[in-house]
Amino acid sequence: MKSIGIKAVALTVVCFFLAGCSGNSGKTNTQPGTAPAALLPGRTLFENNCAACHGSNGGAGIAGAANLQISKADSTAIFKTISNGKNGMPPFKQSLSEKEIKQLTAYVSGLHK
Ligand code: HEC
Repeated sequence: MKSIGIKAVALTVVCFFLAGCSGNSGKTNTQPGTAPAALLPGRTLFENNCAACHGSNGGAGIAGAANLQISKADSTAIFKTISNGKNGMPPFKQSLSEKEIKQLTAYVSGLHK
């Protein structure tokens, strides 16, 4: 039944993309204050847990962290990486709830250029 959750995430992500495309052409949602309200929980979680390595805009690449602005990872891969970690990245499934990881997945997907 896990795939239903993933599909829900994918759907959410698609919605964010559509929303982003309509109002905001050419701009990225990486500046504080410009993200849609629905992304706010993800942004706070990202600042608290991820920005130390990825930077608040996802592009800092500290300690070998992947540049999330150019990452081609889809929401399934992002969800897995956050849950289980990857090489230099620690796993977060013990410290964050599934809901929080989904919020982060949606937020990280929105960082793609
Ligand atoms: C301790 C540093 C560190 C922290 C904290 C960290 N990451 Fe990472 N992250 C990395 C590194 C290093 C990689 C590259 C892993 C690899 O591919 O070898 C990575 C890769 C990723 C990827 C995969 C990108 C791709 O293209 O495959 C995603 C998505 C990601 N991180 C999201 C997050 C999120 C969301 C958080 C916060 C919950 C987070 N990271 C916290 C270091 C970190």
